[in-house]
Amino acid sequence: MPEPRYLPRNLHIDELIEVLVKEHAVMKEGLRRTKQAAERKDFEDASRSLRQLDEMFRQHIVDEEAHILRLLVDELGMKGAEKEIRVFQQHRPIYRLMQIVSELAAKEAADLSSEGAKLNVLFDEHAGAEEGFVFPRALAAEGHRQSVESK
Ligand SMILES: [Fe+2]
Ligand SMILES: [Fe+2]
Repeated sequence: MPEPRYLPRNLHIDELIEVLVKEHAVMKEGLRRTKQAAERKDFEDASRSLRQLDEMFRQHIVDEEAHILRLLVDELGMKGAEKEIRVFQQHRPIYRLMQIVSELAAKEAADLSSEGAKLNVLFDEHAGAEEGFVFPRALAAEGHRQSVESK
């Protein structure tokens, strides 16, 4: 089966950030559910919870990289957006860990619980960094771009 393609959603940056913040809450909740299921050794529920997040997570990353990262790099340059670029570089490791956790659940592996816990910590940190400084900087960059365009 071919991989589904995710295209960036056509939203204005402030609407997009609102959506992304809401999705962080949904994904945090889903990852907590996965972790709790892993602790109970309910492998089926752990798999199901992760599967439900997969599509949202992929779309979310596409939007962050296509809109937010691009805007920051356009406005601040690679050097100026260095810290934000590092935050976005966490997407692949987080997604890889999601896949590892999903495989462990399918194999009913004993270390599912510790990997599930690691995934929660990684994701919480990542979403915290985005909400703490990446998104505010993107909004400021958008404001700057508009003020330059209107001159
Ligand atoms: Fe992200
Ligand atoms: Fe995010």
